[in-house]
Amino acid sequence: MILVANSEAWPGFEKSVGLLKANTHGVDAIVAGISEVEREIKVRSVGYGGWPNMIGRMECDAGVMDGTTREVGSVGAVPDTLPVAALAHEVMKRLPHVMLTGEGARRFASEIGFPLDDVLCDDSRRVWWERLQKELTPEELRAFPDIPLAPLSRTITDPERVRDTTVFLSQDSARGIHAATSTSGWAWKYPGRLGDSPIPGAGFYADSRYGAAACTHTGEMTMRCGTARSIVLAMRFGHSLRAAVDMAIDDLAELGTGFLAGVVVHAIDAAGNHEVASFRCPGEIKYWFWEPKLSKPELRVARQYDPQHTTQRGN
Ligand code: GLY
Repeated sequence: MILVANSEAWPGFEKSVGLLKANTHGVDAIVAGISEVEREIKVRSVGYGGWPNMIGRMECDAGVMDGTTREVGSVGAVPDTLPVAALAHEVMKRLPHVMLTGEGARRFASEIGFPLDDVLCDDSRRVWWERLQKELTPEELRAFPDIPLAPLSRTITDPERVRDTTVFLSQDSARGIHAATSTSGWAWKYPGRLGDSPIPGAGFYADSRYGAAACTHTGEMTMRCGTARSIVLAMRFGHSLRAAVDMAIDDLAELGTGFLAGVVVHAIDAAGNHEVASFRCPGEIKYWFWEPKLSKPELRVARQYDPQHTTQRGN
């Protein structure tokens, strides 16, 4: 067994550990942990602590993948709903579809008993409105939100700061490898924007035969590279976990445009190894790790990607 999650996972990590120890199916264990993260207002990138879109509405994204069946459920830009990783899990269990977005996702949530909740906390509403007041003219503020929003998408966002996620990767007692994600997405995003967190293959992927991967921060980058699927596919082709992660980050590093610095790649393999790597300096990025020989979860330091790495097939 193994559990890896990013540093934002602290409110729910131990819950997932406890469920894995009790031989709970890994998807149930990690969805239960993520639901705790979504409820924690101090986590400023997910659920109640997250940031709204440009017009002040929360639109949350989440994804769940069962690596044994390769079934996936995901929801994107869902208004008025928590917990969204649990909603993604219900999409997987109840529908012949993989992904629901926007009002359709909210309709499904109502049908199966998820309450209506605007999710927006007072502090996020205050920060959002103060930011708009700095950016807009008095005429624009009076007309808001019936003004062109596209020009604002390049000025009111802070690309390096508020665009995070929580990701959980587990191998359970039945050796099933699973992944789950949740986020409120890019702060002040254009309404309807999806990041990578609900996109299987980009923000998350799991295959119990080989391993799983999930990414945090700027989904616009990992969607361009299919990062999570690339890592698992590289392992299928015989590469080590380390080499698979390095190759996927090589692809990201090749991109000449966009905001790369914040992207963090998390991955595990079927032999119980794990890798968390980023472009940041050593010590800047941390993650949670647990395996049965540890008496309690550990907060560890991610590896800094080295563009000169020598990992290759079979290493
Ligand atoms: N990785 C989270 C996002 O891009 O929304």
